[in-house]
Amino acid sequence: MAVFGYRKGKYCAEKVSVRRIAQSCGTPFYCYSRSGIEAAYADYVAAFAACDALICYAIKANSNQSIIGLLGALGAGADVVSEGELRRAIAAGIPGDKIVYSGVAKTATEIEFALRSNIRQFNVESEPELEQISAAAVRLGKKANVAFRINPDVDALTHEKISTGKVENKFGIPWQSAGKAYARAAAMPGINICGIDIHIGSQITHLEPYSLAFERVAEMVEQLRGDGHTISSIDLGGGLGIDYRNGAEPVPTPAQYAEVAMSKLGHLGCQFILEPGRSLVGAAGILVGRVIYVKRGSQTTFLIVDAAMNDFLRPSMYDAHHSISSESDGNEKSQVYDVVGPVCETGDTFGHERTLPQQSPGDLIIIEGAGAYGSVMASTYNTRCLVPEVLVDGNEFKVIRERPDYSDLIGLDVPWEPPDAG
Ligand code: LLP
Repeated sequence: MAVFGYRKGKYCAEKVSVRRIAQSCGTPFYCYSRSGIEAAYADYVAAFAACDALICYAIKANSNQSIIGLLGALGAGADVVSEGELRRAIAAGIPGDKIVYSGVAKTATEIEFALRSNIRQFNVESEPELEQISAAAVRLGKKANVAFRINPDVDALTHEKISTGKVENKFGIPWQSAGKAYARAAAMPGINICGIDIHIGSQITHLEPYSLAFERVAEMVEQLRGDGHTISSIDLGGGLGIDYRNGAEPVPTPAQYAEVAMSKLGHLGCQFILEPGRSLVGAAGILVGRVIYVKRGSQTTFLIVDAAMNDFLRPSMYDAHHSISSESDGNEKSQVYDVVGPVCETGDTFGHERTLPQQSPGDLIIIEGAGAYGSVMASTYNTRCLVPEVLVDGNEFKVIRERPDYSDLIGLDVPWEPPDAG
C-alpha cells in the first residue's frame, strides 16, 4: 500500500493511525514515513545506477536531523545553502567530501567554515563570490574546489517564485559569461576548478526544460575543456516535481529524468552530482491538524483547523494545491468545505471547496505532500509555537522534534528597560 492512506477505514502513516499519534503528542504535527523516504531515494539510486552519480540531498527541503541522518545512512551526501545547513549536515554525520555548498550569498565567515569542514565543492554564483572564496582559501592555506552555477536561460515551466534558470533570476552566472569567469578562476591562487553546475527551478513537471538546459551544459563543457579547464563533474541541481494531486498531476520519474541526463551528457564521462530535495521527502510527509470549529457562512462552510499558514506556508505563498483527507474514509454524508487556519489573514487557507466526509470539532484532517518545504518554512507568526515532527517506521513512531512551549518562544525576548532618567 501507499505509505499514507486508509487501513480498515482509519487514516494511517505506514501502520500507525494518525489518531494514535495525535493522542500521544497533540495537534498539529508533521508526520514522515521512513519507508516513503527510503523508497524515493532508492528510485534515484536505481535510475542512476549505470552512471557515476552522487546524490546530495538538498536539505533545505526538510532539515530535521533524523531525516538527514536517514538519507545519509543510505549513502546520500548533502546540498547546503548556509552555514546553518552545513552544520546540520555535519551534525547528522554527512562527510564533508559529500557536501556541496550552493547559494548566492555565502559570506566570508561561511566560506571559511566550509573550507575548514573540507567540503567537496562550492557552487559559485558570481565573480565577487569567487574572489571571496579564493581569498579565504589563501588565508587558510587551502584550495577551494569550485563549479560555477550557470544560468542557462531556460524556462522551467514552474511557479515563477521557484523558477531559477531564467535570465531575469538572481541565480548563477549568465551562460554567455562562463568562459570569462572560468578563465579568471583558473588564474586565482585559492581556486581549483572541478566542474559545472545548474539548478533551473523546483516542482518541475516536464522534462523539456531539463533537456534544453542539459544541451546547453554539454556545449559549455566541450567549450570549457577546449579552453583547457578540467571539468570532471556536472551538478544537475534538483527540481524534479511530485504529484500533489493523487495521480492527477503526472510527473516524470527519476528514471525518465536520468535517461535525459544520460542522453544529453553521458558522452562527456563526467561524474553527476544531483541535488534533489522535494522528490525525496515531499510525498513522504503529512501535516495533521484538528478541527476546532465548523463555521457556516452565507456562501461557504469553513472548516477551521488548528494548523495554520505559519505551520505550512505553501498554499498561501505559492497558491499550492495539497490534497486534504479526513481521518476516516467514512461512509458518512459528505460536505464541501473551505479548510482554513486560525491566523488573522484571508491567505490562511489550505484548500477551497474541498469535499470531505462531514466533519465535527475534534476530528483530524490530513494535509498531504507536506514532507518538503513544510516544517522548514514554518514561523511563529501570531505567537504560535512550531509544531512537532514525528517519524513513522512500520507500526512504531518517534517524535523527532519536540513541541516547544510558550516560555521557549516568549523567553527569547529581552525585556527593555528605559535608560535611567537621572
Ligand atoms: N539545489 C538548489 C541550488 C536549490 O536552490 C534547490 C531548491 C534544490 C537544489 C532542491 O530543489 P527541489 O529538488 O527540492 O525542487 N519553497 C519552495 C521550493 C523552493 C526551492 C528552492 N531551491 C516550495 O515550497 O515549493
